[in-house]
Amino acid sequence: MTQRTLAIIKPDAVAKGVAGQILGRIEQGGFTILAAKLIHMSREQAAGFYIVHKARPFYASLCAFMTEGPCLPLVLEGDEAIQRWRDLMGATDPAKAAPGTIRRDFAASIEANAVHGSDSPESAAFEIPYFFAALEICPR
Ligand code: CMP
Repeated sequence: MTQRTLAIIKPDAVAKGVAGQILGRIEQGGFTILAAKLIHMSREQAAGFYIVHKARPFYASLCAFMTEGPCLPLVLEGDEAIQRWRDLMGATDPAKAAPGTIRRDFAASIEANAVHGSDSPESAAFEIPYFFAALEICPR
């Protein structure tokens, strides 16, 4: 089934200069990039995006990390895009991520973990319009 998912190349990966390599893996992985923008989130914008994690002990630190510098949100489309993008990212904790995954290769810690991906169709339905207006998404 063709799906759309929200991906983010996080501030740590943009700052390290590996955004291009991650985009290459996305394209080689067979995803179509429908939308992309470089943005530097405010604390309020990061807090709203991660509102589902509000009760977690790492919430404040996560919001601070996501505002350290610009990040690159993307809308990806493809067959089973939600799970396939999560597979390509690897486990949240890079120490547990499989060899060859993006987090294994580019992430420094469970927080500064290089990339984000929607975890369900319901999450994608919240996350895609959080960053992109309908006219900013380019269907193919
Ligand atoms: P992400 O896939 O964007 O979803 C929530 C984010 O919270 C996660 O990636 C990490 O950046 C962060 N995160 C998850 N678990 C922890 C943790 N135990 N400590 C710190 N940050 C975490």
